[in-house]
Amino acid sequence: MAKNTFLYSLLSLALMLGLGFMVAEPNRLLGEDTPAPWVADPSAKDLVNPVESSKKSISKGEKIFKLRCVVCHGPKGEGNGPGSKALNPKPANLGSERVQAQVDGEIFWKISEGRVPMITWKLIIPEEDRWHLVNFVRTLK
Ligand code: HEC
Repeated sequence: MAKNTFLYSLLSLALMLGLGFMVAEPNRLLGEDTPAPWVADPSAKDLVNPVESSKKSISKGEKIFKLRCVVCHGPKGEGNGPGSKALNPKPANLGSERVQAQVDGEIFWKISEGRVPMITWKLIIPEEDRWHLVNFVRTLK
């Protein structure tokens, strides 16, 4: 009996530690440590934006952005949308120097391919619309 009680306390201790770990470190538990910075495929630099950045293109991009992107990236693309809180890594600040320093092709490539938790937008958003999005993202700097 005494032996059983000892085993039970050991078991509940292990359980408490386990639960504590799950609450404190959910990302580590899921194996989602913050990944390395995201670099576009080198070929992306050669992609030429076929859509001139006009008022019309930017406003098309803005419409899609509001529909598809604001939830994570926020209305100004700062990475603070309502859905951003639980994400790791956090949605990028699209107006930041780091993002804006990339050429259109790299931004287009990242939107197209995605990286967890951002989805592969080329499966949903037509190519021309993704260039409108790039033109809109350029207005966020
Ligand atoms: C589910 C949330 C979510 C949605 C919706 C989302 N994103 Fe993202 N986005 C992210 C996260 C998270 C990252 C950072 C990914 C990383 O660094 O691995 C990211 C990164 C990016 C980047 C790359 C920035 C860089 O250079 O590192 C671009 C560009 C981007 N998003 C644009 C968009 C556009 C445009 C849309 C809408 C079509 C969109 N995102 C919708 C979560 C989201």
